[in-house]
Amino acid sequence: MLEEKRKRVIELTKILNDANYEYYVLANPTLTDQEFDKYMRELEEIEKEYPELADNNSPTKRVGGEVIDKFQKIKHKIPMLSLPDVFNEDEIREFDERIRKAGFSPEYVCELKIDGLSGSFHYENGKLITGATRGDGVIGEDITHNVKTIRSLPLTLKKPIDIEVRGEIFMPRETLAKLNQERGELNLPLFQNCRNAAAGSIRQLDSKIAAGRGLDTWIYHLPNPLDYGITKHWDALEFMKKLGLKVNPANRLVKNIEEILAFIHEYGEKRSSLPYDIDGVVIKVNDLAMQEAIGYTSKYPKWAVAYKFPAEEVLTKLVDIIFTVGRTGRITPNAVLEPVIVMGSTVKRATLHNEDYVIEKGLKIGDTVSIRKAGDVIPEVVEAKLERRTGNEKDFVMIKNCPICNYPLQKKPGQVDHYCLNPKCPARHIESLIHFCSRKAMNIDGLGERIVEDFFNLGFIKSITDIYHLETHKKDLQELEGYGKKSIENLLEAILNSKQNSLEKLLFGLGIEGIGDKTALVLAKRYKTLDNLMAQSEEDLKNLKDIGPVLAHNIYTYFQNVDNQELINNLKELNLNMTYLGEEEKYHELISGKRFVVTGTISFMGRDEIEHVLESYGGKASSSVSSKTDVVIVGDSPGSKADKAKELNIPIWDEGKLYSIFDELNVIEHNEKTESD
Ligand code: IVH
Repeated sequence: MLEEKRKRVIELTKILNDANYEYYVLANPTLTDQEFDKYMRELEEIEKEYPELADNNSPTKRVGGEVIDKFQKIKHKIPMLSLPDVFNEDEIREFDERIRKAGFSPEYVCELKIDGLSGSFHYENGKLITGATRGDGVIGEDITHNVKTIRSLPLTLKKPIDIEVRGEIFMPRETLAKLNQERGELNLPLFQNCRNAAAGSIRQLDSKIAAGRGLDTWIYHLPNPLDYGITKHWDALEFMKKLGLKVNPANRLVKNIEEILAFIHEYGEKRSSLPYDIDGVVIKVNDLAMQEAIGYTSKYPKWAVAYKFPAEEVLTKLVDIIFTVGRTGRITPNAVLEPVIVMGSTVKRATLHNEDYVIEKGLKIGDTVSIRKAGDVIPEVVEAKLERRTGNEKDFVMIKNCPICNYPLQKKPGQVDHYCLNPKCPARHIESLIHFCSRKAMNIDGLGERIVEDFFNLGFIKSITDIYHLETHKKDLQELEGYGKKSIENLLEAILNSKQNSLEKLLFGLGIEGIGDKTALVLAKRYKTLDNLMAQSEEDLKNLKDIGPVLAHNIYTYFQNVDNQELINNLKELNLNMTYLGEEEKYHELISGKRFVVTGTISFMGRDEIEHVLESYGGKASSSVSSKTDVVIVGDSPGSKADKAKELNIPIWDEGKLYSIFDELNVIEHNEKTESD
């Protein structure tokens, strides 16, 4: 009986693996969903009844289930290098000339540069045994439990060999769109792009979560080609394809620089219609002996470059310019655009910042404008296409009164922004309430934008204090359409819990002009209690590092205002904590007092956590590189910030350097494991 079952398990495994390969690798389904489910269920049932037959690499493992408590380290036997970037035709020609001058006549392979994160996958006897992130190139993290859920990565190769292959783990655009829609409905923060979503998903401890994220792979590198008698990169790609791995059909063997440029041009055009994000083209010398002869620097191979595409620009129509009012009363003109897809997502709006910005760009309503995504995330209007003007365009006119309450707008001398200073302006109110509840402020789960707006319009919340009186409306709220009993209970609990927040969250939540979460933290750490902060003179505040005269003035005047004083008294009576509860500041000579920018993915720690560590040692983390930046931390697939750092000659820490410092601080989870363990 057991023997029969064993045979059936082998049969079912083959049917399911083949079907999986045909569906996810070849995109050519051979089984219907019903058939697939039927075989899967049969296999699951046998495995349940005869656990000894359940292979570690059974197709049933695709749904996840394994939960780990921390990521183990894995040492890469051959370091995982990254590639030097080039940005234009001249730099590609220089790359080619350098190789020719050294006496070679290379053929190249052009590949798409997939915007995800690189992974290393080990197979023994044809079975997937480990998956690891790149990490600092030498030590990565064991992500086997999650990697096994990636459907396009075979659990069993078509030949029973020992092999390591490398490639990119990515999230298709459509998958990200769906995921973000779901997250939006649950009031969870959205992923900014496919790369972040892939990196976030692969770093889940629970493989069920990763399994639900629809990750995918393109395999592009074979570290030990000689073991298989392979002498050309192109043959390595073919070899890996034959093993059942997903190798990109766009890859192309080319003979000269003209063909490289043609490939780049072709995929520059096709880029926006691909189902996954690419940020460039990788150009590799095809001959592997030639690669070795050309050699390596300490970080990069000298036989390959990554050409990075310029930010994609798309034309659309500027339908209108509308004005919104922020929580500080600041008026922002916004471009209403005819919807267009830029880098895989639909853009309908773009901020135009302020009156001067619109005037500088000379925008008229009805113009054809070009749009691009700044930092690949935030849509930006680049310019009006003057040659497309018809004469029917309308001039932009800055409004004089608040679009919501009609209060006359004011512009402070020397500043570019207009403000509605009516403290009772409803728009300011809703916005300030939303801000108060938001994640970085009081973090009240369940009081997202839509719900605050609803409760405001229904009269339940008119001011911040009303949030803490919602309890008295519990019954009414539970009877509202669309709000279940349980969800209101959860909400009230979240509100109650928020009373215990550390001072900086409240301080940021109050929405004092110019006080971001980071400044709020500086103030909370410095003054410890709100009473103490309120007792400071403008002069005292001005002298505080990181504050300066404008912020000092804003803070001081905020607390002088009687309405604000009353609000704070009310909150005190409601028992909100007004004391800094965080850790005392620690000191490290390379961190304390320095300004940091983190860009790219650091494999051993998420960006928020890195910033948290830096801040706990008195460093400051900011998001953009300027001459004031002391150090830029550059991880895998960094953005333009890394280039800016080089341009400004700002010291750069790579992952290895950060690792060694953090290691010394004992903030990294250690549990080294090498593949020979
Ligand atoms: S080859 C030594 N090929 O780009 C070979 N990398 O900047 C190193 N990437 O870390 C990698 N698509 O994450 C290679 N077709 C491709 C790629 C690719 C994306 C990523 C990879 C790497 C980074 C290098």
